[in-house]
Parts: sequence; C-alpha cells; structure tokens
Amino acid sequence: FERDVIRNFSIIAHIDHGKSTLADRLLELTGTIDKMRKGINQQVLDKLKVERERGITVKAQTASMIHSFDGRKYLLNLIDTPASSSRIVGHVDFAWEVSRSLAACQGALLLVDATQGVQAQSISVFNVAVERGLKIIPVLNKIDLPAAQPEQIAAQMQAAFGIDSAEVIQISAKTGQGVDAVLRAIVERIPPPTGEATAPLKAFLFDSSYDRYRGVISLVNVQEGVLHKGDKIASCYTRKKYEVTDLGIMHPEEVPTTCLRPGQVGYIACNMKESSEAHIGDTLHRAGVPVEPMPGFKPAKAMVYAGVYPIDSNDFVKLEESIKRLTLTDRSVEVMRESSTALGQGCRLGFLGTLHMDVFRQRLEDEYDANVIITAPTVPYKVVYKDRIVTVSNPTEFPDVSDATCQVKEVQEPIVKASIIVPQEYLGEMMELCFSHRAEDLDHRYLDSSGSSGRAILTCTLPLSEIVTDFFDQLKSRSSGFASFDYEDAGYKPSKLVKMIFLLNGKPVDALALIVHRSAEQEVGRAWVKKLHKIIPKQLFEVPIQAAVGRRIIARETLSAYRADVTAGLYGGHHERKLKHLNNQKESKKRMKRVGTVDLPQEAFYDMLKTG
Ligand code: GTP
Repeated sequence: FERDVIRNFSIIAHIDHGKSTLADRLLELTGTIDKMRKGINQQVLDKLKVERERGITVKAQTASMIHSFDGRKYLLNLIDTPASSSRIVGHVDFAWEVSRSLAACQGALLLVDATQGVQAQSISVFNVAVERGLKIIPVLNKIDLPAAQPEQIAAQMQAAFGIDSAEVIQISAKTGQGVDAVLRAIVERIPPPTGEATAPLKAFLFDSSYDRYRGVISLVNVQEGVLHKGDKIASCYTRKKYEVTDLGIMHPEEVPTTCLRPGQVGYIACNMKESSEAHIGDTLHRAGVPVEPMPGFKPAKAMVYAGVYPIDSNDFVKLEESIKRLTLTDRSVEVMRESSTALGQGCRLGFLGTLHMDVFRQRLEDEYDANVIITAPTVPYKVVYKDRIVTVSNPTEFPDVSDATCQVKEVQEPIVKASIIVPQEYLGEMMELCFSHRAEDLDHRYLDSSGSSGRAILTCTLPLSEIVTDFFDQLKSRSSGFASFDYEDAGYKPSKLVKMIFLLNGKPVDALALIVHRSAEQEVGRAWVKKLHKIIPKQLFEVPIQAAVGRRIIARETLSAYRADVTAGLYGGHHERKLKHLNNQKESKKRMKRVGTVDLPQEAFYDMLKTG
C-alpha cells in the first residue's frame, strides 16, 4: 500500500456513545470480520476483562481494514484510543495515552450520542486532536432511537466544538444506517500520511503488549522509510539495538507482511525481552542511522499515590508477585516498597489518576485473589525549602509545618483545570459543589438555549487533592447523574496544607496520616475520629482516639473499656462452647496488629480505608 491510499484515524467518543459498536460495524462493512461470526467478534476492540466489567476501554486496541472505494483499495487503520469511564474521576488519567494514539493519526471521528449530547470528556480529547492538526469528522450516533434529537445535538456540537453542523454525519451504528457515509468521509476527508519511503527509517512506537513466547510486541506507525523483517533497528530513547523477527498488520488479529511502508500501522516483534524496554512515544530507527525523535512526548506521570498492603501480613510476597505480574501489562504504575508499623510490609503505588487506581485495584484483587488494604490516596506535593524542593507523595514524609525549626518556605499542591457539562437547572448546585472544593476562577457559558434542559459548561480550577476523594460521587448524585466532568493538568500552586496524624492511646498510627487543607482540618479530624471510634474494637482499657496537627489536638473520642473474658456471658457448663470461643479469640489474635498498646484487627484498616 502506497501512502496516498492509507488513512490513519481514531474514534473519539464518550463512554456508551457507541465507539465499539461503530468500530465493529466498520470492520464488518470492510469484510475484516465476518458477519456470520458477529456474535463472537462483537466488540473485538474491547478485550480486557475489567474493561468489559466496567464498560470502559483501558488499553488501546488497533485494527487495519481494506476498503474498496471508487475502484481503488484503501488501507484504513483504526487506532483505538482508550475511552473515559462512567466513573470519570479523571479522564485525564488516560489523556496521555489518548494523545499518544492521536499522534499516529491524521484524522478522527468525533462520535456523539444523539440522545445524550456532548459530554465534558469529548471536549478535552477534541482539543488534543485539534492541537495535533487532525481532520475531525463529526458523527451523530443512535439516530434510530425515538429519543434522538439530531438537530439539537448537531447545534450543540457546533457550539461546543465550533464545527459546521452541515458536516455532521447522522448514523445508527446499531442498524448500520449511514455507516457507509462514514467510510466515504474517512477516505475523502482525512488526508493521507506524509513521509517518504526513501528517507531513513523513522517509526513511532505508540503501544505495546507482552507475549510469553515472543517477548514484547510493539505497535508502531512507520513515519518514514520502510521497515522489513530482519532489519536491525535501535531505540532513540534507550539506544538499545534489536532485530525485527516478525512484523505485520492487525487485521484485526496479527497478519504477517513482508514490510511496513510509510504511513502504515502494524506490529513488530524484535527480541525485546522486558516490557520496560518499550517506551511509549519512543522513536525507532535503523541501527547506525539515527534520526530526530518525535517531539513532545512526556512520559506518564503518577498523580495519585497510595500504599497497598495485604490483609494478612504473611501474604506480602504473594501480593508483591501479583503486583509485578500486573505491571508487566501496565507500566504506567510506579511501584516502590514501603513498610508501616501498623500494616507491616507493603508497596507504595503511583497511578495516573483515581480511575487508573480503581481499575488497577480491581485487577489486583482478581489476580491476587483476595482483598487488599489501600491507604487514602495522596497527590504529589512540592515542599519548598530555602535551598531545594522536595516532592512528597507519602503523608508520613510530610514535614510538620507548624514546627518553626522545619525550615519550610512553602508547600505547593497540584492544580487542575476542570470542565463540567450539565443541564442548566443544575448549574447552581454544581457551582456550590466546586466552591466547597476550593474552586477558583469559576466561569460558565450556555451550549444551547432550549430552556432549563439546555446544557451549560462550567469551568474552574481545583486542587487535584479535592477531586481524588468523593468529588465525582457528589457530582453525580447532586446532578441526578447528568453532569459530565473532565480535567487537565494546570501546574502547581502554593497552599496552606498541614499533616494530620491519628493517635491511639497517645501513639500515632502511621498508615492513617493525611495531608489536609487548613480550612478543612476540624471537619476532617472530627469525621475520621468518629469513624475510628466506630470501627476499632473495644480493648481491655479505655483508649483515647485523637486527631492532631503538630502538637495541637483537633478532635478526640474515647473508646470505653471492654470486659476481657469472652466466655463471661455464657452461663452453664457448655465446655465445648467455651473452648470454641477461646479458639476463635486465638484465631483473631493472629491477624491483630499492635499499635502501641492497642490491638487492631487488620480488617479494621480495610473497613476504615475502603469507605474513604
Ligand atoms: P466504551 O467501550 O465503554 O467506550 O463504550 P462504547 O462507546 O464503545 O459504546 P458501545 O459501542 O459499547 O455502545 C454502548 C451501548 O449503546 C450498547 O448497548 C450498544 O448496543 C448501544 N448502541 C451503540 N450504537 C447504537 C445505535 O446506533 N443505536 C442504538 N439504539 N444503540 C446503540
């Protein structure tokens, strides 16, 4: 395939707007998958189990199609971008992945559900696509539904994206109506890739997976030159050299070919042993013929950290192995060992966002086959000293800023620019929600003018730490589920933050330390102390439970003492019953954690942290 018959494109869509259905329909119409096997092939692009369970696309999947049009054969490469989730705490989690997939495209289908309208997440991906100079083809889906409002939503698309509503293609991915017009638009409107076959090889690595037998399989987009089997190549990033042992296109599974030409998208195997060698965004070139690497690729940056511990501390080795196995397929997770006096040996993990954390937690619990304790999420703070800046992502390492000798000039926290799209009647409620989460620079505008059911977009800046806890749940419940939310990185800002610690009988429990904003210390301290009081089992003696900032005690509850003899309440001579109770007590002792003089069951931490 010469490059003038190649079209590289993505589908940008909000969850459930029909991306997978449209992708299936395109694969079917081009004969890439067999209609007869539709049942089996349904949504071949959504592979991972968690994705199916949560109805989201986590890992990008890519497929090539061959389409005959006006007597010519075209090679259409669908480069899948991970979609956002219904629990969108941070579509931004995957923004970097989306932007890397878009870098291999010259165009994108912007798919919007004709019954739902434009959602906040589509706007940020749209902006990335426009910045990258992609040709956008607006598509309205689900026009077969009686509730579809194609004219109104097309007008909304015009207001939100500034596209001409006359360009919008109306389709039903379900019935297939209008999908041929999409294929035509891909061929006619999206420009072919540029790049010369005679130029030195330059291939862009945008995704990778791990195969137990063949090692790392990378997905590449050849920008210039031709890549053959047997070629000796090298990575711009690591400078390591490889030999291409296999290559081909995804049609939709791997189909070997003799070469990949400029503009083509395909897979390569090249005796790369470790998945850590495949750097997403890396540029591959012919060994000995270096090229200028593709610009502007930031490596994934962890924005949310949490400690992960086994409920039974004897299981640490097993937990660590499970984590290692999972990070083979998801290298954007940062892993460090850490230990806690309260929870024993564990790992500190860094995630791209809270959605990423949730997805990983679920995969980890499946893989490890048990629940894990995950400590409260923390964002990375910058602590500015006179002569240096230290990034702190673990509350136990946060300095006591109330101590005059600690030499801290200021503390900075990560800030995001948030967009919320809601029906106008919820605008007031959403503004209140944002203000209660320390929003600044609040602004709004209307996307359409059809009374209170019309939509408005609200933008503001928020501290990232404010949205990693319950912000999203509140956003959904306070808008009856109608609000959509997205955010992007907006740098760091000085902030009045303090470390809060919790004391049991005067001894700090390290795993529970938190970093909170000064204005919220009373509220947070009281709430956690109450919760601890509810969850911690009674001890042989009275236990004060306290929240403290520096030397100041913010909140206190007292756990009253409990009578020691578990058999005391059992009258009569039921010896066996007594014995059973004593054994039970012994059994639960094993899982007890001693914090100072207080015995805590490990499960208490799970219960406490699970509910945030
Ligand atoms: P993610 O993979 O989570 O991003 O979702 P998606 O955008 O891929 O959505 P998907 O294709 O899974 O479609 C979501 C739901 O909408 C499914 O139940 C589809 O059957 C349905 N659907 C998709 N397209 C149409 C359409 O044109 N008409 C109707 N009536 N339903 C559709």
